[in-house]
Amino acid sequence: MYQNQIEVAAQIIKGGGLVAFPTETVYGLGANALNPFAVAKIFELKERPSFDPLIVHIADFNDLHILADNPSENVIALAKKFWPGPLTIVLSKSKMVPDIVTSGLSTVGIRMPHNEIAIKLITEVQCPIAAPSANKFGKLSPVNAEHVKKQLPGVDYVLDGGDTTVGIESTIVSVEGNVCKVLRPGIITAGDIEKALPGIFTFIDEKPEKSIAPGLLKSHYSPTKPLYIMRNGEIQIPGFSGVILHGNNSFLSNGQKICYTSKDYNYHEIAANLFSALHTMEEDENVKQIFIEAVNCVGLGIAIMDRINKAAFQYHQKN
Ligand code: TXA
Ligand code: MG
Repeated sequence: MYQNQIEVAAQIIKGGGLVAFPTETVYGLGANALNPFAVAKIFELKERPSFDPLIVHIADFNDLHILADNPSENVIALAKKFWPGPLTIVLSKSKMVPDIVTSGLSTVGIRMPHNEIAIKLITEVQCPIAAPSANKFGKLSPVNAEHVKKQLPGVDYVLDGGDTTVGIESTIVSVEGNVCKVLRPGIITAGDIEKALPGIFTFIDEKPEKSIAPGLLKSHYSPTKPLYIMRNGEIQIPGFSGVILHGNNSFLSNGQKICYTSKDYNYHEIAANLFSALHTMEEDENVKQIFIEAVNCVGLGIAIMDRINKAAFQYHQKN
């Protein structure tokens, strides 16, 4: 399945072009990670500032040793446990990785996606693929091919693999000795990492934008319309609003456009449907502003609230 499309996409990447492709998290905008000219096109098409480094996607564990400079035993253990999967590990880069990929940093973010099409594509091109999420910088992440085409009509090719399953971007970590720092929360939680690797102490960096992850800005993932967060149901919702809820028993509908991410506050479902719901509201002409219900900031709820807070940041919501 998808073999023809994968071959077309692989030829484009080999020729220095850009291909949007599915991963388990969100769609990526991919180029040959070892070709600086191709990687430069990603920044151009996304209108992404050059200080925001890209994640490199691999399909073979050996590439970890080629792209990273002496990964530690803990890094290897982490990769073996969670790859293929939604975990990006930031580690010291080797000379193989062009500076443009890492925005001049001495570290590189690497992950092996858990998606058959992505793995086949990387295998077919025979090189690692650098890919940020396939959206304009700061806008909503794409979880299907239509979302990509809406924001990036100039992309050379979109490999359409349907809806992604996880729905939010990978967890990003850096590892020093026995300490694992979460730079961006995701579906793999700090608790999951500690459970899988008992010798490792994990914590969430509350201010990654001030440390080594220049792209982890406070404002991100924003819809083109005002977005407000509802906490405790005390809010007055005006006409022409879109309301995103995570369970059936919450908030009165009041004739507004309602979109459910889950029937019963299932956090995996909420993550999977979060960006889709925001895209739906963004596209609806009758929706002038969007209201979204908050979730509890525990476990996977931390990653969900991270995305919601960043999407709503310019409308002055706080944690
Ligand atoms: O799930 C994902 O991670 C998706 C799919 C396509 O793999 N990719 C993704 O890429 O979300 P992007 O570029 O939208 O977000 C990557 C984040 C950026 O905020 C960037 O700053 C951070 O990763 N990052 C990349 N390399 C880094 C590094 N060496 N040190 C710190 N942060 C890094
Ligand atoms: Mg992104």
